Amino acid sequence: MVENRSETGLFRLDLEEISERVTTCTKCRLSENRTNAVPGEGDGNTDLLFVGEGPGRQEDEQGRPFVGRAGKKLTEILESVSLERSQVYITNIVKCRPPENRTPKSDEVESCFPYLEAQIAEINPSIIVTLGNAATKTLLDIDEGITSSRGKFYTWRGSIEVFPMFHPSYLLRNPSKKKGSPKHQTWKDIKKVKNALTSS
Ligand code: URA
Repeated sequence: MVENRSETGLFRLDLEEISERVTTCTKCRLSENRTNAVPGEGDGNTDLLFVGEGPGRQEDEQGRPFVGRAGKKLTEILESVSLERSQVYITNIVKCRPPENRTPKSDEVESCFPYLEAQIAEINPSIIVTLGNAATKTLLDIDEGITSSRGKFYTWRGSIEVFPMFHPSYLLRNPSKKKGSPKHQTWKDIKKVKNALTSS
């Protein structure tokens, strides 16, 4: 878990200003090979924030999060509960593509964390869905891996609920829809999120 409480002067910036800082950021090595940084996009007044791991090739090319195959899967997951991408905010723990899509290193996550922290402060969602292990462990100080943490509500800094789900890329690698499969569990998880939103 990254415990940062930004002292970077990013707090109180609006989302557009945070995005501008991200696109010119050179705080870590990931900036060296990027085509575009990927700050995030969506509704800045949403109750629901999705946090993935880091941009892939297509995201790096377009400067937008989750636009490749994993992104299509995420859109499908949202649509299964009648949510559109434009109704939520989507971002990542690191805003520049790691080489060969490797997992971001802890110093990269740490360098980038003030941007995520500032986005969370500005959006002030009621639920943050973390997609996969890396995003989950960045926000939550838990030992359990995603297979056991998914589908449960945790709390972040006392006020915002964090709900881990499988990363959409994992679902692409595990396409079975059988009862108990990752896909089956994910379709149940997103319903839980939708119900929590509508009852809050
Ligand atoms: N995977 C991620 O974690 N984030 C993206 O933006 C795209 C793929």
